[in-house]
Amino acid sequence: MSSQPDIEKKLEKLRDTLTFHNHRYYVEDEPDIPDAEYDRLFQELSELEKQYPQFDTPDSPTRRVGAPPLDKFTSVSHELPMLSLDNAFSEEDLFAFDKRIKDRLKDVSDIEYACEPKFDGIAVSVLYENGLLVRGATRGDGSTGENITENVRTVKSIPLRLQGDSFPALLEVRGEIYMPKASFNKLNEQAKENESKVFVNPRNAAAGSLRQLDSRITASRALEMCTYSVGRVEGQLPATHLEILEQLGKWGFRVSSERKIALGVAACTQYYRELGERRAGLPYDIDGIVFKVNSIPLQEKLGFVSRAPRWAIAYKFPAQEEMTVLNDVEFQVGRTGAITPVAKLEPVFVGGVTVSNATLHNQDEIDRLNLKTGDTVVIRRAGDVIPKIVSVVESKRPKNAKSIIFPKTCPVCHSPVERIEGEAITRCTGNLICSAQQKEAIKHFVSRQAMDIDGMGDKIVEQLVEQKIITTVADIYSLKHTTLSNLERLGDKSASNLLDAIAQSKETTLPRLLFALGIREVGQTTARNIAQHFGNLKNIIAADEEGLLAISDVGPVVAHYVAEFFALQENLQLLEQLQEAGVTWPDLEIQEVAENAFLNKSCVLTGSLELLTRDEAKEKLLALGAKVTGSVSKKTDMVIAGPGAGSKLTKAQELGIKIMDETSFVELLKQYENN
Ligand code: IVH
Repeated sequence: MSSQPDIEKKLEKLRDTLTFHNHRYYVEDEPDIPDAEYDRLFQELSELEKQYPQFDTPDSPTRRVGAPPLDKFTSVSHELPMLSLDNAFSEEDLFAFDKRIKDRLKDVSDIEYACEPKFDGIAVSVLYENGLLVRGATRGDGSTGENITENVRTVKSIPLRLQGDSFPALLEVRGEIYMPKASFNKLNEQAKENESKVFVNPRNAAAGSLRQLDSRITASRALEMCTYSVGRVEGQLPATHLEILEQLGKWGFRVSSERKIALGVAACTQYYRELGERRAGLPYDIDGIVFKVNSIPLQEKLGFVSRAPRWAIAYKFPAQEEMTVLNDVEFQVGRTGAITPVAKLEPVFVGGVTVSNATLHNQDEIDRLNLKTGDTVVIRRAGDVIPKIVSVVESKRPKNAKSIIFPKTCPVCHSPVERIEGEAITRCTGNLICSAQQKEAIKHFVSRQAMDIDGMGDKIVEQLVEQKIITTVADIYSLKHTTLSNLERLGDKSASNLLDAIAQSKETTLPRLLFALGIREVGQTTARNIAQHFGNLKNIIAADEEGLLAISDVGPVVAHYVAEFFALQENLQLLEQLQEAGVTWPDLEIQEVAENAFLNKSCVLTGSLELLTRDEAKEKLLALGAKVTGSVSKKTDMVIAGPGAGSKLTKAQELGIKIMDETSFVELLKQYENN
């Protein structure tokens, strides 16, 4: 049996260890022990604390799990008001801000500005007495906020006790609590599965998670806080904003890794543009850039006007959410017959482009949104992500708003539609007689990654199908010059070029052919894996589901679709017709991919490549069993970087990921190709 002082020491050590790892994980983003080990230490601490409640401390890492519910939040008055910021919406506004500062300071030399992202979350204040977290509060109206101490304790990037020992006796830190995009997406996916409330955006999710009377709910949500200023302080702080942030970092807070000094307003606009370009790739939402005069004495000289400081401004990015009206819903039929409702919107400028269409996915999505034609809706377009309707403004619903009724027959070929029990998608049962499915199947067949028929654009395919000149992909190979040159937008020369491209496409490869057939769930990688596993078409046709399951990356769903495809007589006939038309593909040597430096590695291509095209490099990597992804994360194994590589390269360097230039990459490829 351990003595009481021993226990107390042990508890202290466990708490320190957990606090250390917590900081590594939630503030530095660099965990150095596996989650399971953290969980074991945590478990050990909670058990000891239960056994020895006399040694409880308010800053124990176990205090982050939430407390029993409150009846209501009490209020907190902010002795120093929590201010807001003036906004700039153009460079002109920003230059005017800079000029006002120079005029006031009677100094024309370049001002040193601290630049930071404007986090799109909830402003909070956290108060420390002698280094211990004693209170957390929302901004409220700026003078009075809500006491959310228990909720704040659950946010793991907020220290429960300040690190080090030289901190002010009283320190109020301010910052933004937000939900990272990945956590938001995960939370919403779960919510959809459980048919519970889906949040419109990460900001609402953060607000909803933070203002919970039951802080155990807050604890279950992945929130983060980034700090950007201080409130009340009894003690000394450095004399510039950036140095204060560095100091907050040393005390254990998360501060923005994007923080930077800009000398003069022109450097500010450059920072705004650069971060704007990376906005979509950041792990959290930001809605602008905040520029602050870096010198604290100058800040004091400039002071405040009404509720905003004269020394700071928020230069906003174009909004990612706007309101507009849903005029109509159209139903589009895809390659596999899936019927997708598409919202026809009153055009609206959002996220930097004019949006007039948005996908509604399926019937469930329409039901979930409780959407009617005529409704005013909120559209979100973030980065390059396709625009979507996030909510309906029900207070603006007109009296004549119409329910949206899913068609019972295909809007194109009028075959009945079916929705299989448990599936979200409604499908046209017309298959190859449906001209919409024909068009989409042909567009896919001729696309660059498939048969690569250059010059056979969507408009040409649509005309050919509408005029009933072709109905299947095999018909492409009997097209005549006269037919083509009679099409709209296709002259004599282009018709000849297209025929050449069609002839050229006849010499193809088994993976390309398999992909081109448009079998459900069979993308490029799966097509390649299947081709390599079986070596020739005959073997693939003969394979049953069990045989297909032996391939890496092929699960029961894919195996089912593939087997189903080759069981259909009309598909076998189509393949025969292709062969008769002269389409050929050499057999592959049946091979398990040999051991090589890329096998099962997750690779990212970035910058401009000069020896290979992007597609060639990707194909070669896939052929060697690598996975090729678009963004760099901790899971990336290798980055192949050409000249002009930007943020992906920087991120890879930061994460210590292996980086290869194009020449070494090509050299390495040669080694494997010779084998
Ligand atoms: S400084 C006196 N810095 O924006 C200056 N605010 O529109 C106080 N915000 O209420 C604010 N990111 O919630 C500052 N890097 C940042 C920020 C930021 C987000 C929020 C904050 C504030 C609101 C004002």
